[in-house]
Amino acid sequence: MKLSSCTAVAGTNIALVKYWGKRDPALNLPAAGSLSLTLKELGTRTTVRFGSHLGSEDRVRLNGRDPDDSTRTRIGTFLDLVRERAGITAHAEVVTENSVPTAAGLASSASGFAALAVAASRAAGLALLPTQLSALARRGSGSAARSIFGGFVEMQPGVFSDGSDAVAESISEGDGWGIRLVVAVTSEAEKAIGSTEAMERTARTSPFYASWLESIPGDLQDARAAIAERDLHRLGAVAERSAIRMHASAMAATPSILYWTPATLAAMNTVFALRDRGLAAYFTIDAGPHVKVLCEQDSVSEVNTALTATPGVIRTFTTSPGRGARILHETTA
Ligand code: DP6
Repeated sequence: MKLSSCTAVAGTNIALVKYWGKRDPALNLPAAGSLSLTLKELGTRTTVRFGSHLGSEDRVRLNGRDPDDSTRTRIGTFLDLVRERAGITAHAEVVTENSVPTAAGLASSASGFAALAVAASRAAGLALLPTQLSALARRGSGSAARSIFGGFVEMQPGVFSDGSDAVAESISEGDGWGIRLVVAVTSEAEKAIGSTEAMERTARTSPFYASWLESIPGDLQDARAAIAERDLHRLGAVAERSAIRMHASAMAATPSILYWTPATLAAMNTVFALRDRGLAAYFTIDAGPHVKVLCEQDSVSEVNTALTATPGVIRTFTTSPGRGARILHETTA
């Protein structure tokens, strides 16, 4: 097998029907399906090069710095999967840049592991199909499986114990609809508890976890229909209730997992007020305090003005549907 250097990019994705809970933590198999929108403006660019001259450790640079120990271990474990599959032992040099504030609840692990799956597998001499890349990316982070594809994407929980059918698939490219996601950043801090640990605690201790899981198939069906009809009101309503239910199940865990801050609540109220004025605007919130508002292109400036004036909102930016993960360039060593 020929080793090369490969640079790949991936956009992050924001789930409209959330993933929150696993059926198998070792293979990172989700307990239920989820549905997301891949974004153009926020993402990761990663270069991977394997080589025997690199010594006994993988070298990783994340946004120009050495990553913390847990991130380094997570990337190393992921590279081990790629090495095993490719039948190589060489270590790798990984240079990765996020245009997403890392670990601030803006889904850097989704684009991070999608870009890493594409770049590392190719650099190791593998030629994987999109579905295989999705299954590989899932091992790094569940949400990363979705970022292999562009536009609206549905993640299948799968039924096989080896996880081969726990992969994402594209539902609709998402562009041409003029849909936008305005992100209200409410904190620059790293999130208090990572999603992996938080969803495990929710599954183990929250009395609401079972009903959360029960609500997902109906939400997926509704979201699929809304996308097929290009019905923003219907899609937004699903997204908002999925986020609220996910957070409610997490809040009810012991100890409680509370990502919301006063600024989060203020931004949620801003969205309710915009809707009272007749605007189609709906929020979603991930494992962090930021509020992401789904709206039409024509409403972006009104949504932006209202969020910017909301106490505790630091800044806002607008994102739009983007393509799936892809190779930017590669060189054969
Ligand atoms: C709230 O994909 O970060 O963003 O599989 O443990 O890495 P791991 O979890 P991760 O969880 C994402 C949680 C979420 C919802 C979502 O993206 O569906």
